[in-house]
Amino acid sequence: VTSSLAGATDLVGYGPYLELAGCDDDAIARHAFDNREEAARARFALDLAAQGRNVVVVSSGDPGIFGMATAIVEELEHARDDFDVDVVIAPGVTAASAVAARVGAPLGHDFCCLSLSDLRKPWTLIERRLEAVGVADLVVALYNPASRRRESQLVRALEILGRHRAPETPVVLGTAIGRDGEAVCVTTLGELDATTVDMRTIVIVGSTTTRVFRDVHDRQWVYTPRSHPDDA
Ligand SMILES: C[S@@+](CC[C@H](N)C(=O)[O-])C[C@H]1O[C@@H](n2cnc3c(N)ncnc32)[C@H](O)[C@@H]1O
Repeated sequence: VTSSLAGATDLVGYGPYLELAGCDDDAIARHAFDNREEAARARFALDLAAQGRNVVVVSSGDPGIFGMATAIVEELEHARDDFDVDVVIAPGVTAASAVAARVGAPLGHDFCCLSLSDLRKPWTLIERRLEAVGVADLVVALYNPASRRRESQLVRALEILGRHRAPETPVVLGTAIGRDGEAVCVTTLGELDATTVDMRTIVIVGSTTTRVFRDVHDRQWVYTPRSHPDDA
């Protein structure tokens, strides 16, 4: 973050993320946007950059995973004649990796990331993908698992995965990882309480090979072995 901010004239982003960026340089202009205005935010940032400003767009985790890099690149394609700018995308630690590291290595074998938000895709497509994840026996990291507007969808998602996984399948809930109020909980598909999940939570549902154990210090670990039992 520090090296990206060096030389910046403008910060653009979702308001709370601008605060988290922890930049208190008064010489840098801040432009806060609503969480949903991604395309407008991207156009605004590219417009400023085209005027010669050194603009930093702030995104959480990895900007290329359900983040602002996509909106920027999409705008570059659609309005490429308007934006003669030099864009650099700085990779980050995505929420799935951040929570995985707290409990061990649940993403140690094949996995995928799926957003449960139906703002930009139909729920029927999300259900089809969940079904495919179940059939393929992939570990899945569920982003945007719930919001005030969408409470029942996580329950439905878990029902679909539950057709392919036992109730004992390990599930990791990570809320506000790396931020105030961080909470990590290891539970199972059968025991997960969906009311404890909110929009700051990422939900990792294990595959049939994901394991949980306690070490000599009684610390609980979750991991998915790198070798699959079918590879005999
Ligand atoms: C729009 S996506 C942004 C993902 C972000 N670009 C990343 O790579 O982590 C927002 C979702 O990411 C997850 N998320 C983002 N930050 C998180 C954090 N600090 N702790 C847990 N989950 C987080 C939550 O599922 C949240 O609903």
